[in-house]
Amino acid sequence: MESGRLEGKVAVITGGASGIGLACAKRYAQEGAAIVISDLGINRLEAAAADIRKGTNGKVMFYEADVCHEEQIEALMNAAIKEFGHIDTVLAAAGVSSASYVSGENGEGPVGSDDGQLINKSLDEWNKVLQINLTGVMLTDRLAARIMIDQGTGGTIVNIASSAARVALPGAVDYCVSKAGVAMLTHAFSVEMIEHNIRVNAIGPGFIETPMTQGMQDDADGTEMMLGMTPMGRLGKPLEMANTALYLACDESSYTTGATLYPSGGMHVS
Ligand SMILES: NC(=O)c1ccc[n+]([C@@H]2O[C@H](COP(=O)([O-])OP(=O)(O)OC[C@H]3O[C@@H](n4cnc5c(N)ncnc54)[C@H](O)[C@@H]3O)[C@@H](O)[C@H]2O)c1
Repeated sequence: MESGRLEGKVAVITGGASGIGLACAKRYAQEGAAIVISDLGINRLEAAAADIRKGTNGKVMFYEADVCHEEQIEALMNAAIKEFGHIDTVLAAAGVSSASYVSGENGEGPVGSDDGQLINKSLDEWNKVLQINLTGVMLTDRLAARIMIDQGTGGTIVNIASSAARVALPGAVDYCVSKAGVAMLTHAFSVEMIEHNIRVNAIGPGFIETPMTQGMQDDADGTEMMLGMTPMGRLGKPLEMANTALYLACDESSYTTGATLYPSGGMHVS
């Protein structure tokens, strides 16, 4: 499985303790990258780092940081530099499906119900989702980019958006808007970064087997809704997202920037 696409590179991954972020960290490690995972919760991070080390001989460190706080993301980037000397690729995967979502504890129930409709949402709930999903990605991207610019070596940034950037999910307007924001952030920021040889791309997953969709996977209506929206008739695997992220992180995608790829089982995203 090892082929060294990221040999000698250092990868910083937010949301790296779970789901898509963790799958990407494992995949990047298999390809030779030194890994810095960041997330909320030291115990979760410790377990994830041990998981990544299994099966690879790679270097893995973890650092707790909340993507909503600029100084914490800055400290994360500085810790990565202190440990490994440089940062070459960043994956911004930290995110929530709603203001009340806690990873691994309460995967969303079926969207499309009256629960969570915009007219009933508090401003605090709206702000929280936007703060984590959009501002958190912006902070991660620009703090990493500043370091890459100082290094003068270029780099790659991969943001995790969602098919919800293009597909309306009633009951999740805040989520959809945050992810559409990530897609445009990716597009617009990529143009500013071209002169620095930093490529900025995104992934818009469909419904993926992670803690975020666990509530819907456990619910017959939720499962029917997800499969009904997915022409391939199955949920995606975190590894399938990791392979897409790997492509965007490595030189195989050297002529691609500002793009959002939609690995979504054929879901309509136009
Ligand atoms: N699972 C899906 O079907 C799906 C589909 C499209 C997009 N996504 C996106 O993929 C990304 C990863 O989600 P996942 O499905 O792996 O779910 P997940 O819950 O397994 O992972 C999300 C991670 O983000 C972390 N996180 C949340 N708030 C944070 C904060 N303020 N600071 C730092 N970390 C924080 C969580 O602790 C968790 O480990 C998210 O951005 C999500 O919106 C998921």
